[in-house]
Order: sequence, then structure tokens, then C-alpha cells
Amino acid sequence: MIQTILLKNRPKGKPALSDFQFLKEDKELNIQEGEILLEANYISVDPYLRGRMSDAKSYVPPFEVGKPITSGVVAKVIASKNANFKEGDFVSGMLDWKTLQISKGEGLLKVDKDRAPLSAYLGILGMTGLTAYCGLTQIGKPKAKETLVVSGAAGAVGSVVGQIGKILGLYVVGIAGTDEKVEMLTSEFGFDHAINYNTTEDMGTALKTACPDGVDIYFDNVGGPISDAVLFNINKYARMIICGAISVYNNTEIPKSISVQPFLVKNSALMQGFIVSNYSEKFPEAMKHLSTWLAEGKLNYTETVVNGFENTPQAFLDLFEGKNKGKMIVKV
Ligand SMILES: NC(=O)c1ccc[n+]([C@@H]2O[C@H](COP(=O)([O-])OP(=O)(O)OC[C@H]3O[C@@H](n4cnc5c(N)ncnc54)[C@H](OP(=O)(O)O)[C@@H]3O)[C@@H](O)[C@H]2O)c1
Repeated sequence: MIQTILLKNRPKGKPALSDFQFLKEDKELNIQEGEILLEANYISVDPYLRGRMSDAKSYVPPFEVGKPITSGVVAKVIASKNANFKEGDFVSGMLDWKTLQISKGEGLLKVDKDRAPLSAYLGILGMTGLTAYCGLTQIGKPKAKETLVVSGAAGAVGSVVGQIGKILGLYVVGIAGTDEKVEMLTSEFGFDHAINYNTTEDMGTALKTACPDGVDIYFDNVGGPISDAVLFNINKYARMIICGAISVYNNTEIPKSISVQPFLVKNSALMQGFIVSNYSEKFPEAMKHLSTWLAEGKLNYTETVVNGFENTPQAFLDLFEGKNKGKMIVKV
């Protein structure tokens, strides 16, 4: 039995379970020369998939209605007619939301389950770890003792950014959506301070108190009013790293926001968006640091693992409700 999850509709506003379609097929998959048969083990659900569900122009083409959703997947090779892969290998790469599928192996990386748990290759040792490292080091250009503020701080990217900030000697303040997450940031991830944006009426003042020396680097995962509040606290030559804007991904109208220009001019500040793949030449350096810090116990990570292939769409929807701590992953 092969199970597949397809895009049924392009969502308007917040996506819903009804935007996904399940397909069950009772057929055999036979591989040809050069191909491998893959069984999905772990599926990554990520906020950026929301962008691919609509047909607006972006840096990656949209998903096609009626076709499978794709994302980062860790899979086991269960049959191979490709010299680069053997039965029993584990691979990671962009694959369909399917329990079983055939691949030519292009773009797949072999992963070592004895070096790290397989799910880690979708998080700390995968795209989210690379995003955290590359965004912070390449755009943030951190210097010891500077102040770093991270939004979406208890999520996959944010929790790694804050910890790298601590390793590099920064004063780190995280912003997250629940008291439990705020507590986790300081007690488990070593942040100096954390703020619950859902229970804080005046984020501008809360940030002023939390960052007595002002904000030198802002790693922005959420956009919207939280990020507006950070602008009021930036220092001269501040760097604002625009990684994502989950708070506006489901908006149906262009959001009203304050004008950033006066803040940037007054502070000779930089605001730069990025896509992790811009820094692909830095990936070997990033992986070296991430795996070393992990092995040395300097870097910690957490995952929210949802069990069952059929729960993949719900796990994706739950990202927008803040139901995850660290990386949201589906165990097939
Ligand atoms: N530029 C790149 O190459 C790149 C690569 C990877 C990810 N990203 C972006 O980085 C950001 C984080 O991604 P991730 O994979 O690490 O996801 P994540 O942070 O693990 O999960 C999403 C989190 O966003 C928060 N959130 C949801 N709705 C929100 C709202 N309205 N306002 C504020 N926070 C909200 C929730 O936490 P709370 O409980 O704290 O609200 C939720 O747990 C996303 O914007 C993503 O698109 C960019």
C-alpha cells in the first residue's frame, strides 16, 4: 500500500485539512536501472511550505494542485539499482509526501544514523541548522558582547540561532509565544532573557528592559508587530536578519507596518532578507561547526515529533498555532 498526500486546493488565508488530499494505492513499485526505492521515515514540515501552496511568485515554484507536496524527508533505501546507494542506506533530501517512492538519487545525501538520530538531519544537522548558522554569521556578523534578539526563538531555527549567539559570546534575548517556551529558552538553551509576546502588552518597553544596551542584531523569524517593536530599540550599525515572517504568511491583505526607513537611516542600520541556499558555499563550514558543537554538548536541540504519516498535514497546520517546541517532525 502506497500513501500519498496531495495539494487539493490553494488555501485562502489560513490553510486547513481540507486543502490536502489523501491517496491510497495498492500497486507494486518496480525500479529500473539507476533508480532506488525509498521508504519514508521522517518528514519535515516547515512554515515556508505555506508559500509554495499559493501561486504567488517566489524563490521556489509553487506546488501544483493535484500533485504531491514535497519537503525535506529522511528515507531508507529498500531496493537499489543505482551504484551510489545500497539497500539499508538512509538518505535525506527533497522528496514527495509518500510512504514509498522511486528516485534516481539526484539531490539526495546519505546520512549516518550512528552519528546522529535520523530526525536530526531535518533539523539541527539539516536545513534549519544551516539557516541559523548562515543567517547569523553571514548577515549578523556577530561580535562578542553584542546584543542579539531572536523572534520565533523556541522554534527550529530560532532555538539554534540563540544558542550559536551564546557560543559566540553574545547577550541573547528570545521572543516566543508561551510561558513554557520562555522558560525553556533560559533554562535549557542558555538564553539570557526571554519574553512571551502573547502576555506582553508593550513589546517595545519589554525589549528596552531586556536589552539595556540596545539591540545590535535582530534575527527575525516572524515579522509583524513583534519586529516593529524591535526597530524602536536598535543601535547604530544594527543588523536585522530577515529569515522569515510567519505572522503574515496567512494574510489575505498586504499587512500595515511601520515605515522602516527612518529607523535604518537614523541608525545606519542594515536589514537584509536571505534564503539559506544563498550561502551553499558555507554549508561545509556550517556543518563542521554545528556537528562539533553538538558533539561537545555546547548545542542542544529539541523536536516535536508527531507520529503517523496521516498526521503530516495537521503537524504543518500546528506550526501556525505554535504547537511545536524546536523542530516539528513527522515520524512515518
Ligand atoms: N530564509 C530561509 O532560508 C529560511 C529557512 C528556514 C526557515 N525560514 C523561516 O524561519 C522561520 C522559522 O522557521 P522554523 O522552521 O524554525 O519554524 P518554527 O519556528 O519551528 O515554527 C513556527 C513557529 O512560529 C511561531 N509563530 C506562529 N505564528 C506566529 C505569529 N503569528 N506570530 C509570531 N510567531 C508565530 C510559533 O511559535 P510561538 O509559540 O513562539 O508563536 C511556531 O512554533 C519561518 O518564518 C520560516 O519561514 C527561513
